[in-house]
Amino acid sequence: MQIRFADGRPQGDYALVVPVAGKDRTSLTALGGSQEAVIAALDRQRFEGEGASVSEQFISENGTVRRLLVVGVGNGNARGETAEKLGGTAAARLQTSGEKTAVIDLSTVNYDADTAARVALGAALRSWRHDRYRTKLKDNQKPTLEEVIIVGGGAGAAQRYDQRWAPVMEGVALTRELVTEPANIVYPETFVERVRASIEGTGIKVDVLDRAAMEKLGMGALLGVAQGSVREARLLVLKWNGGGDGGQPTAFVGKGVTFDTGGISIKPAAGMEAMKWDMGGAGAVVGAMKALALRKAKANIVGICGLVENMPGGNAQRPGDVVTTMSGQTVEVINTDAEGRLVLGDAITYVQRNFKPGTIIDLATLTGAILISLGHEWAGLFSNDEELAGKLQAAGAESGDKLWRMPLAESFDRLIDSPIADMKNVGPREGGSITAAQFIQRFVENGVKWAHIDMAGKAWSDKPGSTYEKGATGYGVRLLDQYVADVLER
Ligand code: BES
Ligand code: MN
Ligand code: ZN
Repeated sequence: MQIRFADGRPQGDYALVVPVAGKDRTSLTALGGSQEAVIAALDRQRFEGEGASVSEQFISENGTVRRLLVVGVGNGNARGETAEKLGGTAAARLQTSGEKTAVIDLSTVNYDADTAARVALGAALRSWRHDRYRTKLKDNQKPTLEEVIIVGGGAGAAQRYDQRWAPVMEGVALTRELVTEPANIVYPETFVERVRASIEGTGIKVDVLDRAAMEKLGMGALLGVAQGSVREARLLVLKWNGGGDGGQPTAFVGKGVTFDTGGISIKPAAGMEAMKWDMGGAGAVVGAMKALALRKAKANIVGICGLVENMPGGNAQRPGDVVTTMSGQTVEVINTDAEGRLVLGDAITYVQRNFKPGTIIDLATLTGAILISLGHEWAGLFSNDEELAGKLQAAGAESGDKLWRMPLAESFDRLIDSPIADMKNVGPREGGSITAAQFIQRFVENGVKWAHIDMAGKAWSDKPGSTYEKGATGYGVRLLDQYVADVLER
């Protein structure tokens, strides 16, 4: 699907989309002679212009019948979000409608360049789909929408889209693709290959550690998780140096468990297929890196993905095994299904030893417990630094990738002490997301600002949203992109 910007409406066939703010119908002057009839129809439909509400009508323009979508944008003032919802709602309605072109007419509303560009972003995000394995789609299930034209967005909207939001769309698309692909297709090695191909030419530098390299470094926790699988582990390192010399880089670290069976502590069969997206944190990290590079962000970022498959098998680690991490600390593996923290611990040590980051942000589909706490609306945020936490929450609110702060405390930390090793990898059932975060914090060195984002409820959605179809959401890409824009590029 293509995005274009234009000053006026084109010739020929297209579906017309006009926003309406609540009960205020002044924007419908865009309809010229059809205005009165459309308003009469809206009244009969009891259309109140609430956000994402749609009235679909047909009007007659210059002797042709034209499909019209009147889309409600409400009266709220979260402009960016409202704009994305408008674009997303229109794209969702028209994607398989038979229409090839949609014209979103903003000429009678006062959107600034960024808001108009975010209408385009919403449309692009919402029309992303993954049809690779659907060989028998019926004709009327196939997408027809080829082009969305934003009309009357004002000077600078096209440039704003190209420079700021098209790169974000590219990043989200990469993340969604990786999250959607099944685990027989995307496993540690192929994850790396996909990322390499996707970021070629962006200026991102890539380093990959294989098992031998990680063994040398003593990454016993990450490798312990991987050892039950025939798929070899990888540590993927991406570097973006858009900020010039000097200064400590910021590190993004992602949990990349390409499939999580639970290992010997095996998960129940029902719903286990969901664990193909247990690499959503790593997916977000690579998507964000791609977005930042494409928009040439003025910041120095290193992105690390710990990539493993967690399988049972003759060589799998056992409950009770003790592993030695790269940090030198030892871990008693009580439950092989608490594998994400083992992977992240070593990945965080690696990034500290090699890059001396001032700030580390890790993202992980880490615990089922965070779903119990926050459901599917917010991801959990844990941090050792008030300012970092505040800035991430602000970036979350602005981007729509929302974060809710959770506590860390010494009293929780004590719950993961082990009688045989320095720590165990699980605490009690209660507060399960917090003890998981405490475990990760034990790998954060003194003076490093750190935030952990538990996004287990966010990587995948069973129902469509205004900017995503059901399935992979791309959560985290926009959060990290916005954080960099707000904090590192200022
Ligand atoms: N990947 C899972 C967490 C998860 C669960 C993500 C549901 C998305 C949906 C993680 O590796 C895991 O298995 N966590 C265990 C930890 C427990 C053994 C302490 C959990 O949450 O049950
Ligand atoms: Mn697990
Ligand atoms: Zn997992």
